[in-house]
Amino acid sequence: MIPSLWLGIVLSVGLNGNPAVRRFPDLVVTTPASAAAARPSAMLPGVEILPGLRDTDHFEIAKVPPPSVKASYSTVHMTQPYVAITFDDGPHATNTPRLLDILAERNIKATFFVVGKNVREYPAILRRIIAEGHEVGNHTWSHMALSTLTPDKVRQELSKTHDAVLQAAGYQMRLMRPPYGATNLRVKQICFQEFHYPSIIWTVDPLDWKQPGSSVVAQHIVAGTRSGAIILVHDIHAATIDAMPDTLDTLLAKGYHFVTVSQLLNLGDKYPVTSTVPMAIPVPEPEPTMPIPAAAAGNGAGTSLDSTIPSGAVRPVTGLPGDSN
Ligand code: NI
Repeated sequence: MIPSLWLGIVLSVGLNGNPAVRRFPDLVVTTPASAAAARPSAMLPGVEILPGLRDTDHFEIAKVPPPSVKASYSTVHMTQPYVAITFDDGPHATNTPRLLDILAERNIKATFFVVGKNVREYPAILRRIIAEGHEVGNHTWSHMALSTLTPDKVRQELSKTHDAVLQAAGYQMRLMRPPYGATNLRVKQICFQEFHYPSIIWTVDPLDWKQPGSSVVAQHIVAGTRSGAIILVHDIHAATIDAMPDTLDTLLAKGYHFVTVSQLLNLGDKYPVTSTVPMAIPVPEPEPTMPIPAAAAGNGAGTSLDSTIPSGAVRPVTGLPGDSN
């Protein structure tokens, strides 16, 4: 314990003095000097701590769903410009590593909903995803529509994938996404009550699996993204990866901060939309309908004044101790 504590202190001191290090919610991340130099503009929008965030907030955001987590989400209602980008159906032999490079260049953390069969095939890529700080969620073993399966088959699809990720990387998944978004109450109950997975649907779907072209994918994502959005794309399609640099840079330039899905759920609790509802506007006190005698007004409160104010009117109060307004 002691050596690792000291290592942590030494690293913290060292990293804080390094200009290539930026603080993000929940983590301190480093940018390779070459990547930062090559992409100076990409570093600008996403590096600042948002107003209202204290430094310590960055370390209080757990990378697991909050205790108040719900059984399913398609968006997170929140005020701050946080979004989660999610990549489904991988890992893929070449596209996923290329995507990881693109994300690393920008210090962006994403969420990967992995298919168990592909985890079995590419365990090293899964380990890289996790080692680089991304979140991983369960996208079933064979990518079938869970709503068409028996409860036991649903359990098998989830548990086989859960075990594969645990064995490959020692990582316990905390989220799931139903393939095709195909779910129902029974499936959600199995996911949530038995596996403790909230079902994560999505806010923005550019239909990248239809291969509409990289620029169309980028346009749809940018047009559909709002604070609290969960963006759905697939890291098995080369054209989707091609769309990512422009998509991510545009969203960064608009001021969005990328977090993992679990972080987004936690931030939603911290910055719910209701926090922006303005306080009730004070209603001005009604003016007295009769003039206040000069003598009474001059010496402050006097019992003789009361009789001059009709019932229902509010007596003006002036000069009371502690009344600064
Ligand atoms: Ni899928």
